[in-house]
Amino acid sequence: MDKLRMVGGTPLKGEVVIAGAKNAALPILCACLLTDQAIVLRNVPDLQDVRTMLKLLQEIGVTVTFPDKADRSHMVLDAAVIKSSEATYEMVKTMRASILVLGPLLTRMHSAKVSLPGGCAIGARPVDQHIKGLKAMGATIKIKSGYIQAETKLPLGRLKGASILTDMITVTGTENLLMAATLASGTTILENAAREPEVGDLAELLVKMGAKISGIGTDRLVIEGVEKLHGAEHAVIPDRIEAGTFLCAVAAAGGEVLVKHCRPDTLDAVITKLKDAGLEIEVGPDWIKARMQGRPKAVSFRTSEYPAFPTDMQAQLMAVNAIASGSSTITETIFENRFMHVQELNRLGADIAIEGNTAIVQGEEKLSGAIVMATDLRASASLVIAGLAAQGETQVDRIYHLDRGYDRMEQKLTLLGANIERIK
Ligand code: EPU
Repeated sequence: MDKLRMVGGTPLKGEVVIAGAKNAALPILCACLLTDQAIVLRNVPDLQDVRTMLKLLQEIGVTVTFPDKADRSHMVLDAAVIKSSEATYEMVKTMRASILVLGPLLTRMHSAKVSLPGGCAIGARPVDQHIKGLKAMGATIKIKSGYIQAETKLPLGRLKGASILTDMITVTGTENLLMAATLASGTTILENAAREPEVGDLAELLVKMGAKISGIGTDRLVIEGVEKLHGAEHAVIPDRIEAGTFLCAVAAAGGEVLVKHCRPDTLDAVITKLKDAGLEIEVGPDWIKARMQGRPKAVSFRTSEYPAFPTDMQAQLMAVNAIASGSSTITETIFENRFMHVQELNRLGADIAIEGNTAIVQGEEKLSGAIVMATDLRASASLVIAGLAAQGETQVDRIYHLDRGYDRMEQKLTLLGANIERIK
């Protein structure tokens, strides 16, 4: 199992180029299932989760080609032939986002069998809202032997437009129902829809494919179903969480970094908190320049749905708070168990206590390197940030979690002057 070894204390300096967003790429890859014509994608990040999704799509029958062998971010997906409408337990247990094939397969093939995801390290994460929405659109859904077995009634075959109000805001739930609705008969209204930029990016591709969607970027999506969708070309939106992670790294380790090829307009809540922490930030249309001198100041925050502070940045900003002057409280409102990094940060010398869904952080002047274990994707990123700021050597074990969602993170940090290496 690979590990990352780093020696903290070197300020970061230089430029970093942000990849396409993982959480936009995953639903966008699944959207190819909605048409028998080719979808050309650019700016797809080269990550383990993307490779897992491509493997699942290939099992379903999609052909995947890379026109330029040296560029894995540019690919052509062709779902002319669907040979299986199934996502097996083996695939779904590897990556929960596999659930995103349910809506597209059901609406195009009129039946789909997808393993029900189990619990997850960060929370129970049920998919009841995905199922409720598809049922409202006329699907018959049974849970049998651990699988969601969904079908639409013949002879009509198509899902029917419906008005759907989800009990909570769900990102992949909105994406699944949005994709399903594109080929349904009649109009679907998704109320309480997630407004995350990744949902908007998926919707933009669907419109290019011929879908009729209004309200993109709002919490009310109106989809007028069409009979067929066609091929399209699309570049995936830059990853706001990767950009935010590098900004936190600068805030913790110090230095001056130009974050290129990002979308600052999708990072308002993160930028506001980092400015409060003392990070000097200059913003252009697709870049952010960040400079940190001295120790960060503690900032309290609570996670919430977009446009508020993202849960996917909670662990990284907590690492900054761990070495900040002052104390802070961090409240996690999206997932019930997303504090697994706390014990590991404490192994590095942080002083963090948990009370319910709130972490209370007393900033420490210095952290000291140690061997720590990554427990999930964003937890791994927070440990790397803490390790870059700590004195001495830190080793982060189980970085397969990091590889699921960050495109060559240690190489990018090396280019910024960090003393970091991967140990095989
Ligand atoms: N929920 C339900 N029932 C449902 C759906 C969601 O109870 O049917 C609950 C969840 O348990 C959670 C809350 O609603 O408490 C929000 O979950 P959501 O469905 O929005 O999460 P998700 O779609 O499974 C996506 C991202 C996550 C990100 C969350 C929140 C993808 C592939 N994943 O997950 O990304 O944290 O939205 O923004 O888009 C990550 O990248 O590290 C990551 C975990």
